[in-house]
Amino acid sequence: MQQTSSNVVWQQGDIERKDREKLLGQKGALLWFTGLSGSGKSTIANAVEKKLHGLGRLTVILDGDNIRHGINGDLGFSAEDRKENIRRIGEVSRLFVDTGVITLACFISPFREDRERVRSRMPEDFIEVYIDCPLTVCEGRDPKSLYRKARSGQIKEFTGISSPYEAPENPEIILRTDKQSLEECVDAVLKVLANRGILQK
Ligand code: ADX
Repeated sequence: MQQTSSNVVWQQGDIERKDREKLLGQKGALLWFTGLSGSGKSTIANAVEKKLHGLGRLTVILDGDNIRHGINGDLGFSAEDRKENIRRIGEVSRLFVDTGVITLACFISPFREDRERVRSRMPEDFIEVYIDCPLTVCEGRDPKSLYRKARSGQIKEFTGISSPYEAPENPEIILRTDKQSLEECVDAVLKVLANRGILQK
């Protein structure tokens, strides 16, 4: 993004991220769920959040369908708009992570470059979770009947049908939702969080 705001100087506060994390007794992190529509991003993120909540951790979910009702309601599905969608969410995620919150972002985020830009803004905190599920399975599930509409031409630029999806090359976690159970997926995510010391009180 081109920085167009001029005459702005970073305002440094006295309370830092580590102080907020100490107050909360946890560490901030960003779990970035990427995958096709219907692959299971929101289902897994919701189950992970429930588990973390049960463990007394403060979490937030940023979900494409919800975010597009609010802050990103002005964006469509062109490559440019998707890029801006992910850029804004990356920045919102940074604010949450800096507050010490375990943040779960669920976006198709089909373009590698857009995801990598978010990673580069917070390399220590970014955990990419690739929800790997064949298109045919996602299309068979079609929970919102969007694939049907995309096939009939009612929806343009639909990911997997008329718009590309670029799979991550080196994600921290890969989950095969056509082969693994929901419980297995949740456990795999929790294990990575534990290994990174994010669950330590
Ligand atoms: S992203 O590509 O910009 O990351 P995002 O995750 O915010 O997409 O939104 C995807 C959701 O919008 C899908 O789950 C689906 O319900 C809805 N949607 C509507 N039109 C499209 C489209 N053309 N392509 C993909 N998803 C769409």
